[in-house]
Amino acid sequence: MKRGTTIYLYELAWVLPSVAIPVGMLVALLVTAFGVHIHVPGVVGRVNPNQVDTSPPFDHPGLRQVGPGKYEVDMVAQIWSFNPAEIRVPPDSQVTFVITSRDVVHGFFIPRTATNTMVLPGQIARVTAHFAKAGTYPFLCHEYCGLMHQMMAGQIIVGPPEPPPKEGGQ
Ligand code: CUA
Repeated sequence: MKRGTTIYLYELAWVLPSVAIPVGMLVALLVTAFGVHIHVPGVVGRVNPNQVDTSPPFDHPGLRQVGPGKYEVDMVAQIWSFNPAEIRVPPDSQVTFVITSRDVVHGFFIPRTATNTMVLPGQIARVTAHFAKAGTYPFLCHEYCGLMHQMMAGQIIVGPPEPPPKEGGQ
């Protein structure tokens, strides 16, 4: 009798957490997705990878100011470079990268920030990073994309002078 009760409690000690933990994770997932609106950076649009050069905004890759302290970079990834490969913004800037690939699968990763996304041909990725302090922030491709993959990188230079806004910006 006593032994049976012990086994029952022992079993319960495993059964309850094995139900409670997945339920807790599911609740956390639902709260972050629908309550706090935190999402994995994903596809925000599509573009024909064969027509990237003529499809806005990728027909004019580059930086443009979209508001006070806010910038957007229309960027094209290709073997084995990013266009633009160098971006200059003043400190305390919020920069949104709108990226697509014109050939194979690439990645876009800025170390020391939470910015990390895959760059797929045909799909447009959108990620935002905030640069509070002056400095040079390298970005790189983190998906193996061929012989010179390790050379595929660029940099964000945060500091004065403030760049002139791109022609045709909003
Ligand atoms: Cu592009 Cu690795």
